[in-house]
Amino acid sequence: MKGLWRCAVLAMCLVISFASGTTAAPEGRKVIIDTDPGADDAMAILLALNSPELDVKALTVVAGNVVVEQGLENALKLVSLAGRCDVLVASGASHPLVQQLVTAEFFHGANGLGNVELPAPACRADTSFAPDLIIKLVHQYPNKITLVPVGPLTNLALALRKDPSIVPLVKEVVLMGGAISGGNATAAAEANIYNDPEAARVVFEAGWPLTMVGLNVTGKTVFTRADLNRLARTQGRENDFAVGVLNFMVDLASKLGGNGTPMHDPLAVGAVIDRSLITTQDMWVEVETRGEFTRGETVASRHNSSDRKVWRDGRYVIDGVEKVNPNVHVAVESDGKRLIELFISRIAGK
Ligand code: BDR
Ligand code: CA
Repeated sequence: MKGLWRCAVLAMCLVISFASGTTAAPEGRKVIIDTDPGADDAMAILLALNSPELDVKALTVVAGNVVVEQGLENALKLVSLAGRCDVLVASGASHPLVQQLVTAEFFHGANGLGNVELPAPACRADTSFAPDLIIKLVHQYPNKITLVPVGPLTNLALALRKDPSIVPLVKEVVLMGGAISGGNATAAAEANIYNDPEAARVVFEAGWPLTMVGLNVTGKTVFTRADLNRLARTQGRENDFAVGVLNFMVDLASKLGGNGTPMHDPLAVGAVIDRSLITTQDMWVEVETRGEFTRGETVASRHNSSDRKVWRDGRYVIDGVEKVNPNVHVAVESDGKRLIELFISRIAGK
């Protein structure tokens, strides 16, 4: 009885203090999603915006799946759809550091959102250049920001080049990109890395805590037609939009011979919401920028050592091995089913 009374008082206090604005809601992890929206990007963004574990500070847009102007419009439409004009949205790099831009409307629809039309955005863009906004927010919230890049890494590389002092101030980077099992853009390279290998190299060599959620795990995190039918049983603006986009993605995947569509970017966001969705192994990973067939490959050392050679008698002779220090937590396993359940539970009826 005493306990019940205490509960009632506590509940009343919470109601009063929320109403008077004195008690803050439990703090979510502060994240910036750097994105090229993008159909699976859109699903990742909706997952993030509907997850209380996350406090999404900004969407920073980069050219990739679509040109940056289209990406910005899509990001603004997504925050508007979710009623989240509090999330800053800024436009960033319109092309990779060195190479020409490659866009992927074939996989994402002409508008990047699976050809599903959304109303004109109610939210307005922040006027900062995305890399500058990243720098500003990292300094504003030292050691609090998790960067979640799910597109080419151009914006992050530009931010690092302009202000390397952000490195120790970032809590961690959890990116969708790369692979330890071959690519999708080419035999060797995953699309986000392939689309700006020089930028990826800067990000991988920065020395900050970096988790790579690559194709080897995202490719197995598949949203099937049965999942789609389940989500279609509930209704809501975000729910219906997600059904439309996922319908496009599942249809395309089935035309290409797949049983469901990979949830690449949502898995990276999922791993920030609940780290137990992935299992990682620490590896030394380098980004190939010159290979004739392997440009954009993330080359991972499973043993974290390499041969040490000395020049002797007119040739190199191996005289031992030298350790290389791991620079990346590489996702090697994931619980794809649980990610799909999390996604459906967060979007259903919204
Ligand atoms: C990655 O490439 C893009 O097409 C997707 O949005 C995802 O970020 C998968 O390789
Ligand atoms: Ca993406």
